[in-house]
Amino acid sequence: MNRLLERQLKRSGVEYSALPESVRRFVDEVGRSYDHHDADRALTERSIELSSQELVEANRRLAKEAKNQAALLENLRSAIAALSSGDDPVLLPAGFNAADPVALSDFLIQQFTRKHEAEETVRIYEMAVRSTSDGIVISDATRPDNPIIFCNQAFLQTTGYPAEEVIGKNCRFLQAEDKDQPGLQVIREAITNRLGCHVRIRNYRRSGEMFWNDFRLSPVFDAQQQLRFYVGVQTDVTADVMKQELATTLLAQRQELLHVAEEILAARTETEIVHTVVHRLGNLLPYDTASIYMTDAAAGVLRPIALLGPRWTSPDLDAWTIPEGTGIIGSIIRSGKGELINNAHRDPRSRYPDGATIATEHLVVHPLRTGEYVWGAFAVNRMSDRQFTDEEFEVLQFLASYGS
Ligand SMILES: Cc1cc2nc3c(=O)[nH]c(=O)nc-3n(C[C@H](O)[C@H](O)[C@H](O)COP(=O)(O)O)c2cc1C
Repeated sequence: MNRLLERQLKRSGVEYSALPESVRRFVDEVGRSYDHHDADRALTERSIELSSQELVEANRRLAKEAKNQAALLENLRSAIAALSSGDDPVLLPAGFNAADPVALSDFLIQQFTRKHEAEETVRIYEMAVRSTSDGIVISDATRPDNPIIFCNQAFLQTTGYPAEEVIGKNCRFLQAEDKDQPGLQVIREAITNRLGCHVRIRNYRRSGEMFWNDFRLSPVFDAQQQLRFYVGVQTDVTADVMKQELATTLLAQRQELLHVAEEILAARTETEIVHTVVHRLGNLLPYDTASIYMTDAAAGVLRPIALLGPRWTSPDLDAWTIPEGTGIIGSIIRSGKGELINNAHRDPRSRYPDGATIATEHLVVHPLRTGEYVWGAFAVNRMSDRQFTDEEFEVLQFLASYGS
């Protein structure tokens, strides 16, 4: 390759082999033009010794070269024009010598590098938008009611909607009927004032399931400061909100438990203890029946000594006893270990009084002991779909140990 051209490419930081085929062809032509130029200079230096025949030939070659040069210039100009696009025109700077092929080829290489870098940047943005786990939507702020013109895969995944049910709509469909939220007023004001905002709102997936949306909105202005788009970013923070709510509930529960513990310790009679536990139990967790069973060793049975909450529809409940060591209660008194038994009605150990119809029962049973001796059990049940959680199991264990 011509040495001058080689130096030019090096200065521009362009790797010849990295150039596209079309640009490489122009660069080759520029190289050939430089070679001829070098040859002509050598010829001029020798001109004094030239014969007239050589001069005629040199003239002819120069005329041909001029024609080649014109074609080369034309090619370079059309290559520059081809790099131009509507929103990113490539314009020659003022005072630029458009008849100089070296300057033109320099400019072409420079513009090519710039375009290449810009395309690379767009590719990186696209990758980021595609791979983020946050939902991203873009609305056209120049059209009435901000219709959505783009949404990423994460938005579709979070909301459960297919793209064809999203594009062209205003994003408020995510609120379903839940319009009474202070965050929505913040969004409205931001849009009226062409500002951004950050709010936490309740939204609904296509399935109807609620999710907490940590939502950020940003306006996008063009070079003339005209509002063109809004970008909305949705982060599903449902799990975090639930954890916070659970932590708050647990804290309140712990405080309530301490009150109960104090009252139990202050109680003077068994009846007072039972009253305290049962009175407070409703504040700690929802339940249907709480019962305390005691072993009647002489009769070889377990007897309920306290039964509270909505009762089973058994007429003989108060008189109901369980043969010692049988049923779920009996097995827990025997093992001395508390159990959480969701779907207890399906447990093979379960025994119900005659005439009782139990469709669903979830149970937590803890043994009541004095020292090593297990003298009874504390059982709490629910007859709804709501199962007991591990936290509720612990709360009841705490009550049982204090009750003991
Ligand atoms: C780009 C963009 C994204 C939005 N994304 C959400 C969204 O994820 N959830 C939502 O409840 N509202 C979203 N909104 C807000 C609603 O579209 C609407 O502006 C809001 O409900 C207040 O207006 P309204 O009172 O007319 O419904 C978004 C708005 C824009 C412009």
